[in-house]
Amino acid sequence: MKRTLLSIITVIIFGGILRADEGMWIPALLQKNEAEMQAMGMKITADDIYSINHSSMKDAVVLFGGGCTGELVSDQGLLLTNHHCGYGWIQRHSTVEHDYLTDGFWAMTPEEELACPGLTAIMLKNMVDVTDRVLENITDETSDEERADIIKKHIKSIIEEAEKDTEYKVSVESFYIGNQYFLMYNEVFNDIRMVGAPPSNIGKFGGDTDNWVWPRHTGDFSIFRIYKDGKPYKPDYHFTISLKGVEKDDFTFVFGYPARTNEYLPAVAVNQEANVVYPVVVDLRTQILDIYNKYQEKDAKVRIQYASKHAGLGNGWKKWMGVIEGIRNFKGIEKKQAFEESFYEWCYKERRRQKYQNALRDFDAVYAEYEKYRMATTYLTEAGLSIELIEFAANFAKLADMTKDTPQEEIDELIDDLRQETAAFFKDYYQPIDEEVAVTMLTAYRANRPEDFRPEILNEIDKKFKGDVTAYVDYLLGKSILTSEEKVIALLDNFKPSKAKKLAKDPAVVAVNSMMDFYVDNIKAKSSECNTKINNLCRVYMEGQMKMIPEVLPERNLYPDANFTLRVTYGKVGGFKPKDAVEYRHFTTLDGIMEKEDPNIYDYVVTDRLHELYEAKDFGRYADKDGSMHVAFIAGNHTTGDNSGSPILNAEGQLLGLNFDRTWEVTMSDLVYDPSICKNISVDIRYVLFLIDKYAGCTRLIDEMTIVE
Ligand code: ARG
Ligand code: GLU
Repeated sequence: MKRTLLSIITVIIFGGILRADEGMWIPALLQKNEAEMQAMGMKITADDIYSINHSSMKDAVVLFGGGCTGELVSDQGLLLTNHHCGYGWIQRHSTVEHDYLTDGFWAMTPEEELACPGLTAIMLKNMVDVTDRVLENITDETSDEERADIIKKHIKSIIEEAEKDTEYKVSVESFYIGNQYFLMYNEVFNDIRMVGAPPSNIGKFGGDTDNWVWPRHTGDFSIFRIYKDGKPYKPDYHFTISLKGVEKDDFTFVFGYPARTNEYLPAVAVNQEANVVYPVVVDLRTQILDIYNKYQEKDAKVRIQYASKHAGLGNGWKKWMGVIEGIRNFKGIEKKQAFEESFYEWCYKERRRQKYQNALRDFDAVYAEYEKYRMATTYLTEAGLSIELIEFAANFAKLADMTKDTPQEEIDELIDDLRQETAAFFKDYYQPIDEEVAVTMLTAYRANRPEDFRPEILNEIDKKFKGDVTAYVDYLLGKSILTSEEKVIALLDNFKPSKAKKLAKDPAVVAVNSMMDFYVDNIKAKSSECNTKINNLCRVYMEGQMKMIPEVLPERNLYPDANFTLRVTYGKVGGFKPKDAVEYRHFTTLDGIMEKEDPNIYDYVVTDRLHELYEAKDFGRYADKDGSMHVAFIAGNHTTGDNSGSPILNAEGQLLGLNFDRTWEVTMSDLVYDPSICKNISVDIRYVLFLIDKYAGCTRLIDEMTIVE
């Protein structure tokens, strides 16, 4: 290709950035990547990974629990995923007497495997490109509204038609922000049972301190089994497990369900995320987590009750701190701006590229408008609804709306739901925490939001409580009946529409209604208007980037953002240099666990059993050839949230480990990816097997796996 001045400039901008490891690829189109993958060391074919004509690896990968990935490792439906993916279930089955979070859980017989009603595993059966049908009759002249209507209509008819001759669940998913569409066929499994989990001081070793950080020593796995028709499910494919381990520069690939990335956003959007929204969320969550910590340290029951809530809040909190720092350190915004310069320049060259240029230009105004609503929503959800009682009250606000004209079945159905929610809420509710969170969050909410653009209830605190938040919270928790399980059950047992008026006056219902009204009256419509505008601009800008990048920046990979669908990503094993003078090795060992051990900190306790095995060097065939027990390793795979639990595979397609995290320095990779430092963290499968076999003695599971030495 003839080099234009523009392409020389852009090579300078992107120079030094090797793009080989970037990208999350659609499995049905993997033929395009096959040559590169094989050149990097892969010994199998794209068809071995994804095929609809014969069994392939895709038949062994599932979307686990709607927010993680799992893989099948036996012909009896045995499934591996991360400990933090099974965490909610491990917690649900835990009590102070049977504390599976602290002690671990091992079903030594099939009968001991624990049912998890509500847990699903979803497996992709087929995907078909339906772009032409979805976008039929749409031209450059079609308005955005018309376009949305046409697409909706087409998708509806495609789904209806597909549903006629399949028992699978079908959906149509958009790729490249509405520039490509696939019809997906999925099998849904509803009977998943819990089989095993290490104690948290192994499965969550290092806790939130080590979370998102390399070097890492977490045995982040748990074991489930898929049942079908009451029997262990026989999959078409299950992974063979390799005991060879990894060496620097080995080829690896990750096969799983990445949730969302936004690699093609304009600089103005990245700036809003990283410099406006995240700092506020991080600040609010820091305050809540401090409160959780204080009470969790004091009381074992509270520690269990708030374990999942803490992990959930803490995970985003820490990630976004990393994003803020990463975007700054690796000049994410400046890189986007430089790209935009060259994009404009490419647009100027041809008249018909005007629409792309306009789209990029129009982002500024929309984002400026959006900020107001985005921040209002952020405070509402992060401060207002982080008060558990207020969030719980949202369920009762509906009950308070019932009148004598409401059909009795509707009331009964709602009451049934509320009974379940009530049981779940009180199992894990500790009022002193909520009281302190309420005072802290309402104080922050009031201090940071203008009087004329916030829920009325915040102004009431001024009017009725002279601005004394503590007095208001005393009143809220003291007067609401929703703090007492007994009273809530009595209400549900004896509810009649004539009681709705009184319920509507409950202070917690009043508070949540005030927040929801504010949302509905002042935010919802505007915010969704902005979102629609942004999506439309993104679609056009994406279309422009899909034309410009192959032409001007051929060395840059173009792939669709993650959208909760199955993807393949590949890269090589290796360490990295996070900053001047610091260099990380690519693997960690059990020695590191002993170094980090601290009997006084819950997350760093090492059990006697692990000590014994370590002292005796009793690693069996799971030891590395260097004699040590390898725990985790890093490689250059482009992963994101929900890739947790994904299989990481070697050149032969054998299981090497389970992906569970990225490194702190690069959590910005959902917005701006830099292959020189972006690494995914996996737990070494040999450590997983060592724990199942040597630590827990659950050898029946090892026996059903296919293991190669
Ligand atoms: N950071 C990982 C992910 O994004 C692991 C989270 C679970 N671990 C924890 N300590 N909270 O989900
Ligand atoms: N731990 C994440 C998850 O639960 C994966 C880490 C990431 O975001 O890369 O999906």
